[in-house]
Amino acid sequence: MSSGIHQIVEDWVGTLPRGLSSHIGRVETLASEFAQAHKLEAERVRLCAQAHDLCRWMRGEELLTKAHEFGIPVHQVEEHNPILLHGQVAAEMLRHKGLDDQVVYDGVYHHSTAYPGLHPIAKAVFLADKLEPNKSGRYAYSSEALKARAMKNLDEALLEFLSREIAAYLAHGQMVHPSALEARNELLAQGLTFTL
Ligand SMILES: [Fe+2]
Ligand SMILES: [Fe+2]
Repeated sequence: MSSGIHQIVEDWVGTLPRGLSSHIGRVETLASEFAQAHKLEAERVRLCAQAHDLCRWMRGEELLTKAHEFGIPVHQVEEHNPILLHGQVAAEMLRHKGLDDQVVYDGVYHHSTAYPGLHPIAKAVFLADKLEPNKSGRYAYSSEALKARAMKNLDEALLEFLSREIAAYLAHGQMVHPSALEARNELLAQGLTFTL
């Protein structure tokens, strides 16, 4: 991995609105806890956490334009809700700036929805993004319990989160991204179980 990309990402985070850079900092902290618990490479987890929301400030129109420029496939769920593209666009922008770590790329790319076959580094960042302390109030269930589960087993925590999230989308009449369904199906196919 080129060491220059770490500096590029760190500098980029420094230009982001304060609320966003604070969120990134909290994600980095929690992802690092998961990394330690699961013996993941701390530097790669840190880079992925720092990079995940670099394009979260962009407007939907801009994200759609960038997605088309980069040749990113745009699903109808993303057409409907273009902010979902901020991970894909960030991953592609970083690739053009020298990111050559496929695991980090995938972690950034898929951090909004999850995806089948994600590396544990990407799973740690996905869960940290959803469970960082300032987001705990947005769930109808205890995110502390889910965080404790993630410290023990990333796959079990991912299955629980995706199951709860998909159920909530259905309950509210919202679209469900197929990547989230596929990620959950993969975990079920591996023999994991979770019921609401
Ligand atoms: Fe994000
Ligand atoms: Fe985030």
